[in-house]
Amino acid sequence: MQDWFDVASKIESSANAAANAAGLDSSLFSPDARPADPRFGDFQINGALPYAKRLKINPREVAQSLVDALEADPEIASVATLSIAGPGFINVAFKPEFYLNWLSTFATEEALNGSAARLYADERVVVDYGSPNTAKQMHVGHIRSIVIGEAICRLLEFCGAEVTRDNHIGDWGTPYGKLFYAYKRHLDEAALKEDPLGELERLYKLGSALASEDDAVLEECREELVKLQAEDPDSIALWERVNQLSIDGLKEVYDQLDVTYDCYLGESFYRDRVEQVYDELAKAGLAEESKGALVVFHPEHKRYKEQPFIIRKSDGASNYATTDLATMLYRAEELKATRIVIVTDDRQKDHFEQLDLTTAKWFEKTGRQRPIFSHVMFGKITGDDGKPIKSRSGDPIRLKDLIAEAIERADAVVQEKNPDLPEDERASIAQTVGISAIKYADLSPNRTSDYVFSWDKLLSFEGNTAPYLLYAAARIQSIFRKLEDGDDANLEERASVFETDEERALARKIVEFVGAVQTTIDTLRPHMLCNYLHELAGSFSAFYSANKVIVEDDGAKARRLVLCRRTLLALKTGLSLLGIRTLERM
Ligand code: ARG
Repeated sequence: MQDWFDVASKIESSANAAANAAGLDSSLFSPDARPADPRFGDFQINGALPYAKRLKINPREVAQSLVDALEADPEIASVATLSIAGPGFINVAFKPEFYLNWLSTFATEEALNGSAARLYADERVVVDYGSPNTAKQMHVGHIRSIVIGEAICRLLEFCGAEVTRDNHIGDWGTPYGKLFYAYKRHLDEAALKEDPLGELERLYKLGSALASEDDAVLEECREELVKLQAEDPDSIALWERVNQLSIDGLKEVYDQLDVTYDCYLGESFYRDRVEQVYDELAKAGLAEESKGALVVFHPEHKRYKEQPFIIRKSDGASNYATTDLATMLYRAEELKATRIVIVTDDRQKDHFEQLDLTTAKWFEKTGRQRPIFSHVMFGKITGDDGKPIKSRSGDPIRLKDLIAEAIERADAVVQEKNPDLPEDERASIAQTVGISAIKYADLSPNRTSDYVFSWDKLLSFEGNTAPYLLYAAARIQSIFRKLEDGDDANLEERASVFETDEERALARKIVEFVGAVQTTIDTLRPHMLCNYLHELAGSFSAFYSANKVIVEDDGAKARRLVLCRRTLLALKTGLSLLGIRTLERM
């Protein structure tokens, strides 16, 4: 029994066996074993208390009888010490040998992965994230979806799932009328070459402005749109060109952020699949006509019994809801997804709740297997005033500019910290630090809350930040660079058992790694892993300042180096799951 999960299930089953041996009624007793607050131990078994309450007997006596029976189990006794706390909680504290054993077994990323990979084995997950509308720049609001989505993909893969990264771009619909109108009359070829998304955005804005001033222009924009929707070959050719330019432009930013999609199945991909949606939902009795539109109500729901889910507009056109229903079907049937995750801001909460309710009923009526659906939503990035951050001109900040500024500012910070770094090395470190810092600032707050953007905070070497964690990792690398020959060989065999409080606390923290990954992915909240990594770096720091690593006593030196190695492993692995690269030095 070495693996975190083996330990948890071993404790559960031993507690059950112990309950039997102690003569407890197994139909009323459940062990409720869970990782404990580290001040009290490693695991807690809480089941004695509710059991005793129910039967109106003394909980401490129940706990004592369980402890006696557990201590008689040699597998438990060899790895843990038991004690009773409070009214009848059982604390399980692992012996130092257990930690050393664990750290020897889980010595590589592959080993950690092997342990986690059982969690979502046999799952096929489509993750829909990023997903901007085309022919526009991405602005700062887009970063959260990209960064949170990518972390979720990496975590799912680490936990054994097969992941499809799908960019559901908004590449169909009304904006194209205005864009095409302006494109045909006001295109600046040179600007399009130089900055395709910038030029397309300019043209769209120009088209909108002209159309709002002049009804004749508006009419021409409408005609452009009708032609596109009728799939007129010239319109489709232009649309394809615009989309290709858009995707190329998006990819430049994705490259910088280390994100690669498997597919770009945008809204247009589903345009021929909407008829089936109307038919099936009407046949199933879920959709009804209301003021000329086709809508779905949910009578059992407080709000959605009156707030319609419009799936066909009164002018007969499909909309976001229709393509999303078709998307659900495609992902379930063609991509064989067992789960679907969609990452957007929280303003789309209602849309996805209605989508999920509607899909549930639709799939149930048509006898289809429904993938588990999660809408991973997030709050705004704000300034000090609590309003979404804006550039000086009052426009949203372009994502490209944000990234460039992050790198520039990181460069200054790195230079200050380490003035002796050669120029080109500093530039590459600044690139990593800058990008990591904005990613981490996005991942570390609970995603459902808004967060206040602050350059000083996110580039700080103190607190729960990327620079702090990257620096912690780089500092450990430097320990290994300074070792003498042989210091680093056969560490596990040379190591003696952990002795100091700081050693034990750090070992325990490292062992929690897989558990932290599990809670993070089960809740789809990357900040949980950030918190863990921050605590881990804190435990390392406490250990490192109180325990000299390079000491005479070889057993102590070796066990401390094991702790350094594994802290580095957990930091590196954890950060890479968050989409963050670590540095050799900084
Ligand atoms: N394009 C949408 C937006 O910019 C996000 C799409 C999310 N995915 C989806 N299947 N609806 O808000």
